[in-house]
Amino acid sequence: MLLQIPALFSSDEVRDIRAALESAPWEDGRATAGHRATSVKANLQIPLDHPVARQLGERILTRLSQTPLFIAAALPLRILPPRFNRYEGGGTYGNHVDNAIFPIPGTPLRVRTDVSTTIFFSDPEEYDGGELIVEDTYGEKGVKLPAGDAIVYPGSSLHRVAPVTRGTRNASFFWTQSLVRSDQQRRMLFDLDCAIQQLTGDHPEHGTIDSFTNVYHNLLRQWSET
Ligand code: NI
Repeated sequence: MLLQIPALFSSDEVRDIRAALESAPWEDGRATAGHRATSVKANLQIPLDHPVARQLGERILTRLSQTPLFIAAALPLRILPPRFNRYEGGGTYGNHVDNAIFPIPGTPLRVRTDVSTTIFFSDPEEYDGGELIVEDTYGEKGVKLPAGDAIVYPGSSLHRVAPVTRGTRNASFFWTQSLVRSDQQRRMLFDLDCAIQQLTGDHPEHGTIDSFTNVYHNLLRQWSET
């Protein structure tokens, strides 16, 4: 499932975040690429332990924790600290799959990369190219969203970033280990959750809401790992 989260950050917040990104040092993204990815990756990243990356990362995690749509779609157990990347001057990241497991720096914990998220911090008209292209069972999908919007997609998908041929594309990306490992099960829970929300909005007194909610939580109990 590919899910857009509109306006995770407002345009004022994006301006503020962009200013912080401008103040950070940017290094060759191949520093953090896996063995096979090194040959297809041409972008810039903020060093993972740089204060700007940490502060903006905290800000993103706080916002995610207040965003019901993200929580419903990703059912997060653990989130890897967000990373920041920049593509310009033909920069690209060819087709690749992300590592399945990442250690959380400074902790004994690891994150299984069930769910990938990209937050766009440049508006589409600021650059040419730069679509995030995700291959899923329905074929390829190209994604290029307004600054402040996020896209959530399965960590299991092959994906790439098309070359940026004009301007600069700033983004953050990170991985989430979900309580529910299976994309299909997560999708069904999300659909059920949305249906319950809609029913609750349209018919708040309807007696079936409790029954559906009970089914939702029983499925989550069946399928979740903590
Ligand atoms: Ni990737």
